[in-house]
Amino acid sequence: MVDFHRDTMPTQIVALGGSLLRPEEADERTMWFGQLRQMAVHFEGNGRKLGIVVGGGLPAREGITLARESFSDPYRLDTVGIAATRLNATILQQTLQDIGCNVSPVIPTSTNEAAELLESHNIVVMGGTTPGHTTDAVSVALARDCGASHCVIATNVSHVHDSDPRENPDAKPIEELTLAELAEITGTEPLGPGGSAAVDPVAVKWAMEASIKLAVLDGRDLSRVEDALEGRPFIGTLVKVD
Ligand code: UTP
Repeated sequence: MVDFHRDTMPTQIVALGGSLLRPEEADERTMWFGQLRQMAVHFEGNGRKLGIVVGGGLPAREGITLARESFSDPYRLDTVGIAATRLNATILQQTLQDIGCNVSPVIPTSTNEAAELLESHNIVVMGGTTPGHTTDAVSVALARDCGASHCVIATNVSHVHDSDPRENPDAKPIEELTLAELAEITGTEPLGPGGSAAVDPVAVKWAMEASIKLAVLDGRDLSRVEDALEGRPFIGTLVKVD
C-alpha cells in the first residue's frame, strides 16, 4: 500500500485501459460500469473535475489487425487505433450523460481542448489524439495541460513488474520506483501501432519532462482507482518523479 498525493481539490486525470470496458463475464461488465457511474457521481457531487482518457482495447487490436491486411504505414494504423479509442470513449461519455453527469458532450481531439472543456464541465471523456503514442501518453499530457501533478494509469495488471509477467512467471511486482527507473523497464522508444508495455514509453518520457507522478494499478477493481484519485494509500505501483 502506497500513498499517492495530498492535493484536496485538484483536477484528476485517469487513463482507463480499453480492456477494462470488456470483462469477459456479463455480470462483471455490469458491475464495473455500475462502479464507474458511482465513482463519477461521487466525484461530481464533491464539485471536483475528472478527465478520463479511454484506451482502444479489443476494437483497436481488431481494427489494426484487419487494416494491416491492406497497408502497413504506421501513421495510418495508429489512425485506426485512435478511432477505436474514440469509440470506447463515446460509450463511457454517453453512459455518464445518460445518468445526468455534467460531462462534456464533445469528445475532444487534443489535450488542450480537453483542459479547456474541464473548465466548464466536471467530467471530460476522451480517447487518443495523434499517431505515435497510446492513451497512456494522452493522459500524462492532459495532466500536464490541466496543471495536475499526477495521473492514474489503470490497466489490467496489479503493478508494474521488474520484467514482463506474461513472459516471465517469476516477474516481481514493484510497489514504488522513479520515472527514470520505469524508463529502464519500458524503454524509451515508441511502441508502434497496437504495441503494448507496462506503461507506454512515450508516457514515461512526457511524465519525466513535465514532472508528473504516476499511479499504475489494476482498474478492474475500481476501488483502487478511487483510492489513488482520493490520495489514499492504494494497491499498485507508485512512480515518483525522482
Ligand atoms: P491504446 O491507448 O488503447 O493502447 O491505443 P494500449 O496500450 O493497447 O491500451 P489498452 O489495450 O486500451 O489498455 C491503441 C492504439 O491506438 C493508437 C496506437 O496505435 C495504439 O497502439 N493510438 C492511440 C495513437 O496512435 N494515438 C493515441 O493518442 C492513442
